[in-house]
Amino acid sequence: MNFDNKFGMFIHWGPYAALGLHEQALARYNIPYTEYEAMAMQFNPTEYNPEEWVLLAKKCGMKYICFTAKHHDGFCMWDTKATDYNIMNTPYGKDVLKMLADACKKHGILLSLYYSNPDWHYEYGYNPESKSHQWGAKYKNQVNTVKLREFIKAQITELLTNYGKIYTLFWDIPPCIYDPSLNELARKLQPDIYINDRGWSEGDFSTPEREYEAANNGRFTRMTEACNSVGAHSWGYRVGEDFYTKRHLCCAIDRYMSAGASYLLNVGPDKKGVITDDYCQNLLKVADWYNRMDECLECHEADDTDYGIKNNKYIANIKNGKTYLHFYEGIMSNSVAIKNYTKVPKSVRFMNSGESLHYNIIPLPEFMDMSKTTQDELLHIYGIDADKYADEPIVIEIEW
Ligand code: GLC
Repeated sequence: MNFDNKFGMFIHWGPYAALGLHEQALARYNIPYTEYEAMAMQFNPTEYNPEEWVLLAKKCGMKYICFTAKHHDGFCMWDTKATDYNIMNTPYGKDVLKMLADACKKHGILLSLYYSNPDWHYEYGYNPESKSHQWGAKYKNQVNTVKLREFIKAQITELLTNYGKIYTLFWDIPPCIYDPSLNELARKLQPDIYINDRGWSEGDFSTPEREYEAANNGRFTRMTEACNSVGAHSWGYRVGEDFYTKRHLCCAIDRYMSAGASYLLNVGPDKKGVITDDYCQNLLKVADWYNRMDECLECHEADDTDYGIKNNKYIANIKNGKTYLHFYEGIMSNSVAIKNYTKVPKSVRFMNSGESLHYNIIPLPEFMDMSKTTQDELLHIYGIDADKYADEPIVIEIEW
């Protein structure tokens, strides 16, 4: 089992955008609850136009959007009956999730929902049976995980009933209490949904985030959706954010997608609801590369041949009789030499530029094996203008 749609836009958006600090600003900057909550209730994203978000995602080659319905601060971005602490009671007063769901539907983009288990506003939101992200809870002496679960069930029921088809459910922060009934409820309401591993039982897929190591042999054995933000410090909108380089993001995306994972790349819209130019440009620089690559990143199976390529780290996939070599950290020279080829290729292509590449079968002056008298012949692919694409992973297509 794996995802059919592999590249998505993660969107962290809530009243915290108005502070321009971090999505967990309440706790991380120790903002008094009364001040934060008053600020949240004044949330007024007058320029919110979800069609712009959806069209941007499409332009980037993305197939779905994962939206933070509720982050740790507990503020709900939909018309929930479970708490007054929601978008309907702000000056804006409109169901922003509904508007996003409609825009997604209109433009053929799937919608996924992020839902935080920690809730720093709800009176029984404190969960001592969770190892992390409890520090911001307002009522630390009122523990009732039964009520907390009922509250979450009511909200998940709304989210998975009122907004059409939901592609994936992204629970955040494992609660450390085993309660499969929450995922069962989600599956009852949305039979085709994929559920992540940060909820109340194992779920369908894993969620490594930011900088992490891939599985042992580089391939994922379980359905996996990796994620990172274009911004280095925050998932929510941050004034003066530092942005990752194109190379860092593209290499990570190539590495994890070629190893079988999906990828969510995050942006944080501002308090008005706009994905500001700096965030946009950083997304588009990745899109410029991704849109040349999607045919070999979206679906593939492992090519298990050991090609004996020296020095360069790579992952090999096969699709329609073509092998795709993903050099996810780039290549060291303008050529690669392949040892264990079984056929002479029909053609070789440099995916980054789309150009055909030259190749020949020649011996190279390798370190000699004492048992041999001549060098092995190698499939030598050369003249690769890797310098021109120094800010991208290098991908080579071989048609056998
Ligand atoms: C972490 C962060 C959280 C963010 C999430 C995205 O759990 O604590 O703020 O929403 O990652 O995956």
